[in-house]
Amino acid sequence: CFTPGEYEYFKDEYEIVVVIDVLRATSAICSAFNNGVSALIPVPTIEEAREYQAKGYLVGAERKGQIVDGFDFGNSPYSYMKEELKGQEVVLSTTNGTKAINIAKDADTVVIGALSNLDALCAWLIEQNKNVLCLCSGWQDKFNLEDTICAGAIMEQLIATGNYTSDEDSSIAAKYLYLSAKDNYMGYLKSSSHRRRLKNLNLNEDIKYCLTPNQTDVIPILKNGKLVKI
Ligand code: MLT
Repeated sequence: CFTPGEYEYFKDEYEIVVVIDVLRATSAICSAFNNGVSALIPVPTIEEAREYQAKGYLVGAERKGQIVDGFDFGNSPYSYMKEELKGQEVVLSTTNGTKAINIAKDADTVVIGALSNLDALCAWLIEQNKNVLCLCSGWQDKFNLEDTICAGAIMEQLIATGNYTSDEDSSIAAKYLYLSAKDNYMGYLKSSSHRRRLKNLNLNEDIKYCLTPNQTDVIPILKNGKLVKI
């Protein structure tokens, strides 16, 4: 799915859903597990985030790339590398990423994908040998390049095993975008919309982190409404 809006047309055909929001939600979630958070509760709305905050949880909230006033942190992968988060259960609400996770929550299996956990995720998917749907979070229900490129990177590894075919034109298109981008993600995405948005917010270091593949082997999986590490 290029966007969450397409999910309902695909959902019944696939057993594993990989939710992708490279800039930055799923990269931040992988960073959180890499740093040792015990669980992360993704919530789609700021109201739900506030309810968790009132119960004493550490809560991150981002809208339009910025930390929402009154929350502990936003959506930067670097916010999750702090010592005090180790072993904690945290809550996160973001513009698109946590919304996409919520849309897919009733699927058999929901896992988190980013460039930062690409190879580990693909190795795990290949072991499962099930139908895989990549759900790109996009930006406010619009297509974006970085999530599609990540979906294409996943496709490429799965197809290389000989056990998978790409049944949808969207997956063929994703693969071609990945092949055009793979040697220089930063350059390829230079004028893409969310890269520009984050750059204007002086978040260049976040962009670099999110576009650097294979920084972790964590695979977050959704269990009873909480993400935990496989
Ligand atoms: C989102 O979930 O919409 C994104 O991660 C936005 C962001 O970069 O903060």
